[in-house]
Amino acid sequence: MRRYVFDYPPDQIKKHDCDVVIIGSGLAGLYTALNIDESLSCVVLSKEKNNDCNSFLAQGGIAAVCKQDDAFETHYNDTLRAGARLCDKEAVKVLVGEAPEDILKLMSVGVAFDMDEQGHLHVTQEGGHSRKRVVHCGGDATGREVIQKLTEVVAARPNVTIKYDTFFADVITDKGRTAGVWTYENGHKLYAAPNVVICSGGIGQIYRYTTNPAGATGDGIAAAVRAGIKVRHMEFVQFHPTALFNQKEEERFFLVSEAVRGEGGILRNEKGEQFMKGRHPMGDLAPRDIVAREIMKEIEKSEMPYVYLDITSKSKQYLVDRFPTIYQECEKQGIDMSEQFIPVCPVQHYFMGGIETDLNGSSNIPGLYACGEAACTGVHGANRLASNSLLECLVFGRRCAQHINHQSDWSAIKNNVKNIAGTVISDFTPSLEPPAPNDFSQTRQEIKKIMHQYVGINRNAQGIEKGLKRIDSIAEDIESFRFSTHEHVEVWNMATVARQIMRAAGEREESIGAHYRES
Ligand code: SIN
Repeated sequence: MRRYVFDYPPDQIKKHDCDVVIIGSGLAGLYTALNIDESLSCVVLSKEKNNDCNSFLAQGGIAAVCKQDDAFETHYNDTLRAGARLCDKEAVKVLVGEAPEDILKLMSVGVAFDMDEQGHLHVTQEGGHSRKRVVHCGGDATGREVIQKLTEVVAARPNVTIKYDTFFADVITDKGRTAGVWTYENGHKLYAAPNVVICSGGIGQIYRYTTNPAGATGDGIAAAVRAGIKVRHMEFVQFHPTALFNQKEEERFFLVSEAVRGEGGILRNEKGEQFMKGRHPMGDLAPRDIVAREIMKEIEKSEMPYVYLDITSKSKQYLVDRFPTIYQECEKQGIDMSEQFIPVCPVQHYFMGGIETDLNGSSNIPGLYACGEAACTGVHGANRLASNSLLECLVFGRRCAQHINHQSDWSAIKNNVKNIAGTVISDFTPSLEPPAPNDFSQTRQEIKKIMHQYVGINRNAQGIEKGLKRIDSIAEDIESFRFSTHEHVEVWNMATVARQIMRAAGEREESIGAHYRES
């Protein structure tokens, strides 16, 4: 596999020195930047605007123990049970134990969580939780509220610069250490930095149906793979049980939060039966992988490509106040959710796998960190517990920043990287590959279809083998070209991540959590 995606004369690349580069302006990226010491210069690079990421779209909230009737041990056990016992226990202990500290920090910088009538944090329930412990903002607009506030706070920090519309192409390494990143923003640019934190988010766009925005093409994971990173748990892809059903091939499906079931919503089949009753002790609030599979069984039995979500037990006023975003979207589709059932179906939503990190976000490459959905800290195991994802961004984003702030050999590393910045990619030899065709959109669509067909909710040995062969040949085909636009690189990244998922799915022969094999 080629080491760097672009081939471009290094003497023509603009350069910029800094101490920390963060890839991504979702919650993981912003919260890491917030915690970077003010004495360190930090650049946050984002492919899109800050409203085009999974964090911004998050509805349900952030899971944290903050009530008397709850306990860290209970949150810990719920996380392990949802993760099919494949979670890294130490990482889960850190996640649940440090959660309240980060919720308080968000409040201290002005994030307005929804409060109950007594002026305490309002908590809701979601699938897999045995207690109400999900804090939220703006009813069902948690991501939007948190990202908007944090963007404002982080952008005001004197040591941080946020740059949007910047495509991150590669991590630059020198003698096995991180030396910076290669970007493309109206031309090529190199950021020389001893610390790079990959917070590039999810991979949803490699699937045909997803809740993820257009930018979720796994760029950070793919770039890290080119740099020699270790990845982990790549076979575990989460399907959210209740996306709003849509006839069209939309780029992104609208999510109907699990909090709707947390507040009394019931799943019903074609005949109106409450089918989750008796299929799992937690019924409609069973972990996501289980609910998604049960929905698929109902869909396969029926004439409809969806099931129903029934929240008609609640008044219109309650729903407008509690779920303003969902209410509005349903209304746009001609559904009054206080009187009609909502058609829903499972679609890709989250990625449990990613860059393997320790409890400080460090990877196997010195100076290269990862956080959020691009990382695999091991907290989610084989299936993530609802609303643990934003929490992971907070707890591990802060720990990652603290680790960078406290590096003992900090100034030696810094000077060394600045010296090598100009020479690290100097062994440039122009490639002989033909230029890539302008339009890679057919290849993009083909990858999405293959992933949907062979490594979706239900998998089997024959399908995985077939899928891997096709992805391998697509990847080889793409690699035979020279890239000149970021669209080329994006499709190459999609193929790289797809290949890793296929391989991992083939290697794990058992069924566990979100990786369900019929054979
Ligand atoms: C939801 O609101 O159902 C999604 C929250 C999550 O993905 O954890």
